[in-house]
Amino acid sequence: MTEMTKITSKQDRVLIFDTTLRDGEQSPGATMTHNEKLEIAELLDDMGVDIIEAGFPIASEGDFAAVAEIARRSKNSVICGLSRAKNGDIDRAWEAVKFAAQPRIHTFIGTSPLHRDITGLSQDDMCDVIHNSVTHARNLCDNVQWSPMDATRTEEDYLLKVVEIAIKAGATTINIPDTVGYTAPAESAELIRMLIERIPGADEVVFATHCHNDLGMATANSLAAVAGGARQIECTINGLGERAGNTALEEVVMALKVRNDIMPWTTRIDTTQIMKASRLVATVSGFPVQFNKAIVGKNAFAHESGIHQDGMLKNAETFEIMRPEDIGLTETSLVMGKHSGRAALRSKLENLGFTIGDNQLKDVFVRFKELADRKKEIFDDDLVALMTGSSDPSQDELQLVSLRVVCGTEGPQTAALTLRVGKAEQSVETTGDGPVDAVFNAIKSLFPHSARLNLYQVHAVTEGTDAQATVSVRMEENGKIVTGQSADTDTVVASAKAYIAALNNLITRREKTAPGA
Ligand code: KIV
Ligand code: ZN
Repeated sequence: MTEMTKITSKQDRVLIFDTTLRDGEQSPGATMTHNEKLEIAELLDDMGVDIIEAGFPIASEGDFAAVAEIARRSKNSVICGLSRAKNGDIDRAWEAVKFAAQPRIHTFIGTSPLHRDITGLSQDDMCDVIHNSVTHARNLCDNVQWSPMDATRTEEDYLLKVVEIAIKAGATTINIPDTVGYTAPAESAELIRMLIERIPGADEVVFATHCHNDLGMATANSLAAVAGGARQIECTINGLGERAGNTALEEVVMALKVRNDIMPWTTRIDTTQIMKASRLVATVSGFPVQFNKAIVGKNAFAHESGIHQDGMLKNAETFEIMRPEDIGLTETSLVMGKHSGRAALRSKLENLGFTIGDNQLKDVFVRFKELADRKKEIFDDDLVALMTGSSDPSQDELQLVSLRVVCGTEGPQTAALTLRVGKAEQSVETTGDGPVDAVFNAIKSLFPHSARLNLYQVHAVTEGTDAQATVSVRMEENGKIVTGQSADTDTVVASAKAYIAALNNLITRREKTAPGA
């Protein structure tokens, strides 16, 4: 066993286990491309995340390839792959993580009565499965995490029994998931305390907490679990995750930093990279951060009211318990003008957390110049918006060629659209109930599909009537959810591009899941 794989947290140190790429990516519509996953993993590794759960290797070839590549590229973090309690899953997870300098296999099974009903296993049969799966994982890898899924709704005696079996079989980390976000903070602390006190060998392993936010208590529950003895918090950037999401990394890390007086535990996260990570994950996942979100929301450091502004000018500590610089938020600056060059754009984007290749830079630079022609002042947020949906549009099946919309008080509105579908350009003119409806009708007539539009959302990026609009579109076809985003000073153009981006993602998803693919 290498020094790092032992990873037994010191009493005052809490390990940060980030599962943005696994539990976060499981969130419907948050699918990320291979390169996007690599980019996020690189940033997590760089900012001091102790363990990165990079994916679920058995789930698809794409997941496997991403985990394997993240493992190969990892520098400081332990790289973890998830697997069910089946030898085939565990082998696949090992095949992917074994390339890491510090690999970990994470295996789980649902232990609550509801989950035992689903698997049809008796309590005793499940004990055998747990013993065998952890033993199998431990024979492959000396760093094994085991999770009793739905632990917080598992009978106490049975939970004690299965955790003991997993420790005896060689698990080095025991994770206690609150899978449905049901627990309250006092219970969360007490559960971990009770397990550590009553299970023989508990002090030889690290206890972890994994909370979901269904009742808005994930952060409080995670911190309470640490008070109860847990020394690993599982979390995601921006709290991304299924339903109401997971514990937000930025919240637990900053809470431990700011309230270290009453929570005397530390992490090794470089908090000045939090904003970068938040922007990157929001852009890549298509899940915008709510304005009043703790730590990373647009308004988290904004002081609008007169009283607040007055206090802030006299002494920033009047209303600020942490400084914007602590999370890497520099004052939104008037960043660039139309004469700024490519190198300046690249460097500014890198400061904002985006690492871009030459081809992508070329495309973003063209769009930056177009924007600079139309908009007097370009702010950091404008550049972040430019990055939405900019991976490599020249590779897309559907591309917007031109759009003209005629509006007026007398409807209907008309859209004249030319779209490149594959290699051929096609044009159409349609009407609709409003300009956006007319444009969407036009796109649908050139690319007929049965996907249902279940979200259309517009945000102004900055102030002013020349502000860019960021549009998010979410669509569903046969249970598969895809999203598309785009930004433009023209809301109708941004809407068209976001809709087209969602359709391109749908085409990719269809190709990936086609029989034989
Ligand atoms: O929420 C949960 O129970 C999980 C497990 C797979 C750890 O994500
Ligand atoms: Zn989870």
